[in-house]
Amino acid sequence: MKKLLIKNGHLIDPSQSIDADADILIYEGVVQDIWIHEKEKGEDIPDDCVVYDIKGKYIIPGIVDMHVHLRDPGFEYKETIRTGTASAVKGGVTSVCCMPNTHPVNDNETVTRYILQKAILEGSCDVYPIGAITKGQKGEELAEMGLMYEAGCVAFSDDGRPVMNSLLMRRALEYSKRFGVPIISHAEDINLSANGMMNEGGVSLRLGLRGIPAESEIIMIKRDIELAALTGGRLHIAHVSTEGGVRALREAKKAGIPVTAETCPHYFLLTEEAVEGYNTNAKVNPPLRTRRDLEAIREALADGTIDIIASDHAPHHKDEKLCEFEMAASGISGLETLLLLSLQLYHEGVLSLPELIKKLTQNPATILGIGKGTLCKGAQADLVVLDIETDNTIRADEFVSKGKNTPFDGMSLKGRVVETFWKGIPMLKGITPLTG
Ligand code: DOR
Repeated sequence: MKKLLIKNGHLIDPSQSIDADADILIYEGVVQDIWIHEKEKGEDIPDDCVVYDIKGKYIIPGIVDMHVHLRDPGFEYKETIRTGTASAVKGGVTSVCCMPNTHPVNDNETVTRYILQKAILEGSCDVYPIGAITKGQKGEELAEMGLMYEAGCVAFSDDGRPVMNSLLMRRALEYSKRFGVPIISHAEDINLSANGMMNEGGVSLRLGLRGIPAESEIIMIKRDIELAALTGGRLHIAHVSTEGGVRALREAKKAGIPVTAETCPHYFLLTEEAVEGYNTNAKVNPPLRTRRDLEAIREALADGTIDIIASDHAPHHKDEKLCEFEMAASGISGLETLLLLSLQLYHEGVLSLPELIKKLTQNPATILGIGKGTLCKGAQADLVVLDIETDNTIRADEFVSKGKNTPFDGMSLKGRVVETFWKGIPMLKGITPLTG
């Protein structure tokens, strides 16, 4: 295998506090060396080396997307491990954590092993399964978390469904402490949501659609924070969408309670108005909220209350969106837009580039304890060559994901994933080497 030199890029690696022009040397899928231009003179190019000159472009560690629905096993008509991971690398994502709401549910080690084996056979990036907290995600009985952990699960969640039973949630938090993994909460009081379809407010009233109040999320975030305080278990709140949720998280963090939180691009870029016209591509759970909530999410990203940005990639078949709003499935296909949409936070002055990249790489990797999201010497060479200034348009029909369901179709933005390297292999054929 030849050595690979990626030179003249601007490297942003928050895990090493690097924000500088640099060259990176890769050998056998691993970062061998980094030369920071202002500090070191690059060594002579080793013989027999493939060289990429990416002057004017950025290099960042491969993104760790902590919240993805790969749909495999059981819902292969929506997505498979093959198409989902191909979609990931197209978006600059090299580590995918997949949620357990498959069929069968990933609530035992056999399903966990199936996912990991299939990922080895047909995956284009690393896959980390998230096991269910309760058997069948039914919220009645704890799943075999220990066995799933041993098989390779990196966290536990009943995502898509809340654990309504507080005693079970308490036990899950206590039990997960043994393995040091987080419990990811889909924070929703399902009774209060009462089969709602969008945010409860003026727009839902006008459209005549049943609403989901913000309190449905806020109450469960507060309950789970109390349970994290009680147990000392590590709690991670998925897809935070409300101002009240953010406030509760901010206070909990101040009080030293072990909680982390994530949001998704649609909660800092869109509001409930996107549902106007009964746009089923804007139907998502939790629902798109108000301008006030959107501003609160942005503030929480800026002050560190929200630690990470994830896609909540939720691909659906077109027929599941091409129907009445009431009947439509919830979710947005997000792997191919996660990085590009997040970049708008930088362009709009909400976050610096290192702060933004940290929320997409180092922070999720640290929360999961998976040793990714870094380009330190010896790390797996997962990296993205990124153009942050080029004008671009999101085109759902060009997604490699089976799910074309996005409310961002046709949106103009700045930024382009030029190339994604996974284990040192260029996955997109997006750049040509100078030599080698
Ligand atoms: O909109 C959503 N879709 N929210 C979830 O929590 C689950 C997801 C799915 O699985 O489709």
